Parts: sequence; structure tokens; C-alpha cells
Amino acid sequence: MKFFVDTADVAEIRDLAETGLLDGVTTNPSLIAKSGGAIRDVIAEICAVVDGPVSAEVAATDFDGMMKEGEVLAAIADNVTIKVPLTWEGLRACRALTRKGHMVNVTLCFSANQALLAAKAGATFISPFAGRLDDIGSDGMELIREIRVIYDNYDGLSTEILAASIRTPLHVKQAAMAGADVATVPPAVLKKLTQHPLTDKGLAAFLADWEKTGQSIV
Ligand code: G3P
Repeated sequence: MKFFVDTADVAEIRDLAETGLLDGVTTNPSLIAKSGGAIRDVIAEICAVVDGPVSAEVAATDFDGMMKEGEVLAAIADNVTIKVPLTWEGLRACRALTRKGHMVNVTLCFSANQALLAAKAGATFISPFAGRLDDIGSDGMELIREIRVIYDNYDGLSTEILAASIRTPLHVKQAAMAGADVATVPPAVLKKLTQHPLTDKGLAAFLADWEKTGQSIV
């Protein structure tokens, strides 16, 4: 499974990119607003740090507006993925933008039928929002399992499942087990993935024993 980070905070992205474990970045209008920067500058900065796909979301809701904004965003860098909402207009724009050779991430997916439509529209990525479904008492991971089954039923569907609205390390594990191609994870959750108290305890014991030997490896 690929790891994207879900943030527009360039310093955080730079930090995580240094691990070599980062495969891409997703942003949305709320994350751009939180960054305090201008969208074109922020996306350009992120693309200079990360080689993989960087999602930048349109703000228009009509086909013509999405096409115009999509072209502006795509011109920022080769690895920009244009993010469009899962509406009829968004699906039309998805089809037209992918035909022009752009990567498209269809966002705000909350049902398997929506995901099927996005794949038929040629989406590069579909973003099911697991956490927001959990928020209303539904099962977000069940949606990812359903999409996996549907996409695997048809050879012609090459859209990647990008598990979004991931809130916890458990979500990450469940998304991987459900067969998501990508999980986009907030930086704080990504950092938690290495943590285990037995790792810390074991390392402390190894180092204490090593200290007693008085040895040095280099
Ligand atoms: O980028 C979309 C998504 O991951 C949003 O997550 O936590 O705001 O539901 P959240």
C-alpha cells in the first residue's frame, strides 16, 4: 500500500519526505486554508519536495469552471493530480481531464456506486472518506471493502482506491487489509505508526546491555 500524507503543511511534508516512505500528498480546500498560503504557491512548494502525485482540489462546482481551474492547477507541476468532487459535473470534468492526460482524484466518495461511476469516468484515484462515515455511525472500512470487490470484478477498471479521512493507526491497518491501493494519512497519525511500547522497552534493554560491554561498532 502506498502512503500519501494528508496535509498542506510544507514543513511537515519535507520532514516526512526525508524518511523515503512518502509516496504522495493530498490537500483539500480546508487544508490549504489552514496552511495560510496561496494555493498555487503551496502546491508548487509541495511538488518541489515530493515526486509522487500531489492532489490539488478545484473550487468551482460547474464543468467549465472545474476544467479551467484544473488546467491551472495541472500547469503547476507534472505530478499535480486534479481533485474534483463526486458530482455529475465533477465526473464529466474527470472524464475530460483524464482524456487530456491529467491525473484526477475524485473526492468526497461515500458509496460504492459513486466509486463505480468515478472508475467509469476514468478517475486515477477514488477517495472514499472512511472517518467521516464512521462519524455518522456507518462503517467506513466496509465501503473500502465493497469498492475493492467491485473494482476487482472488472478488468477494465484501473482506478486506485485512495483511503481518505483516515484518523487512526487502526484505520491504516484496516485499509491495508481491505486492499486499498493508497492511504492518505495526517502527519500525526503517520508518525504514530512506528510506535509500540515493547519496541521502546526492548531498545532500552538492548542499549543498557550494550553499554555494559564497553564496545563501539565504529
Ligand atoms: O483530504 C480528505 C480527507 O482525508 C479529509 O479527512 O479527517 O477531514 O475527514 P477528514
